[in-house]
Formats: sequence, structure tokens, C-alpha cells
Amino acid sequence: MVQFTKRSEVKIMEMGVPNHVAIIMDGNGRWAKKRGLPRTLGHREGAASLRKVITHAAKMGIKYLTVYAFSTENWKRSQDEVSALMFLFKTYIKNEEKNIMKNNIRFMVSGRKDNVSPALIKAIENLEEKSKNNTGLTFNIAFNYGGRAEIVDAVNKIIESGVESIDEESFSKYLYNDLPDPELLIRTSGELRISNFLLWQIAYSEIYITDTLWPDFDEAELEKAIENFNKRDRRFGGVK
Ligand code: IPE
Ligand code: IPE
Ligand code: MG
Repeated sequence: MVQFTKRSEVKIMEMGVPNHVAIIMDGNGRWAKKRGLPRTLGHREGAASLRKVITHAAKMGIKYLTVYAFSTENWKRSQDEVSALMFLFKTYIKNEEKNIMKNNIRFMVSGRKDNVSPALIKAIENLEEKSKNNTGLTFNIAFNYGGRAEIVDAVNKIIESGVESIDEESFSKYLYNDLPDPELLIRTSGELRISNFLLWQIAYSEIYITDTLWPDFDEAELEKAIENFNKRDRRFGGVK
């Protein structure tokens, strides 16, 4: 029997994809404000976008996806918003476990553990352990994450290890998770800044910024970002 492939699937198969995509998921608050809703509802919608994007990234053959979910600076927000974000993340882990295991996804978190509740740390570690042998998409959540904090934490690990000298490659091994550098960095909601995300790893990433707010970001938006990435002339300082 002849199997027909859907047009959208043909498009995906023909598209070259970056190995590692990193996303600054921004604009949840503005999405809610535009609708007269509390910011926390924007975060809830943002979690729904993330679910779509992970599934689609895996389907497109992306190997690593890192998303910025909570920065070391986000503690400055109201206690209500911080608590809501913590609760949402814990619920997210609980609800996504089935989907993660079913889709052979490896789950991991990059960030500091301080100020994070023991229950949330336990939930994170459980899913990291449970999914560690999965061989599909590696899904890395930057949570309580700061790029500078990551570099300082790496330097402290190096000092503790007693190693005497280091180069760029061996330095990477001391970062929270030793993943290949992202080829593509996406930021939603139009902000033209890095906000302390992956400072070491994005040295040569291509940057794609869209005005779309994170809760409106979907499969088609991801494909659009990747199509745009595929048109870039990556020179890495050389001449073509
Ligand atoms: C991104 O959305 C989510 C987090 C930073 C946790 P924001 O909450 O920053 O949304 P805006 O930027 O206020 O619209
Ligand atoms: C960056 O967004 C952090 C996350 C998306 C988790 P922010 O909204 O916190 O960044 P700024 O305040 O615009 O720099
Ligand atoms: Mg923001």
C-alpha cells in the first residue's frame, strides 16, 4: 500500500535543522495584559506553547532544545508571581512526564538549586534520572539560571577540582550541562537583549528575534525561525 506523506511533513523533511535551538520564551506578561488577564495566566498559556514546541522540535529532528524559563533575576518579581511560576513548573513536570517518556525525550535542568523548594528539586531530579537513557530530543530547561552564575559556578568547580590549566573545550565540561553550543537562539516578544542567557554557549549562535509573544508562538513560528536560520551565511570570522 502506498503511504502518502502530508505536505507539511514533506516540508519538514526537506528542511535542514539546527542541532541545538535555544529559546528565550518572553512576553507572557504582555500577552495577558493585552487581554486584561493576570500575568500568571500568561505564564500558563506559555506552558502550553512550550508543549507544542517540544513536540514539533522532536518531530523536525532537532537534537537539543534549551528554553529559558526562570532567570536568576526573575526573583525580583512579586512574591505572588514567583510562587505561581514555581507552582507552574512543578505541575508542568508532573503533567509532562508521560509525554516525555512516551516520546523518548531526555529531560534536564540547567541552573542553581538555591532558593528552589526541596519538593521541586526532587521532582526535577526524579525526571532527570528517569529519562536519562532516552535517546530522542534532549530538552534542557534553564531554571533559576543566569549565564554569569553558570560561568562563576564552573570556575569554582575548576578550583575545587585542583586542575591546573583549562582551555575552551575543557571549560565547557564544567558548565551545568555539557551540550553542544546552540546554532540558533530565538527570542520572542521583540526585546533586543540576551538577559543573561547562555553567555558562554551563544558565542557564535545566529539570533532570531520575533515580535510574536511567547504564548502565540507555535509550530509554524518555529518553522519560520528555522527557515530564516537556513538563509544565514555563517562565516565564523572567516571569508567565503
Ligand atoms: C517570560 O515572560 C516568562 C518569564 C520571564 C518567567 P514575561 O513574564 O517576562 O513577560 P513580559 O516580558 O512581562 O511580557
Ligand atoms: C528573560 O526574560 C528570562 C526568561 C524568559 C525566563 P525577562 O523578561 O526576565 O528579561 P528582561 O527583564 O526583559 O531582560
Ligand atoms: Mg519579559
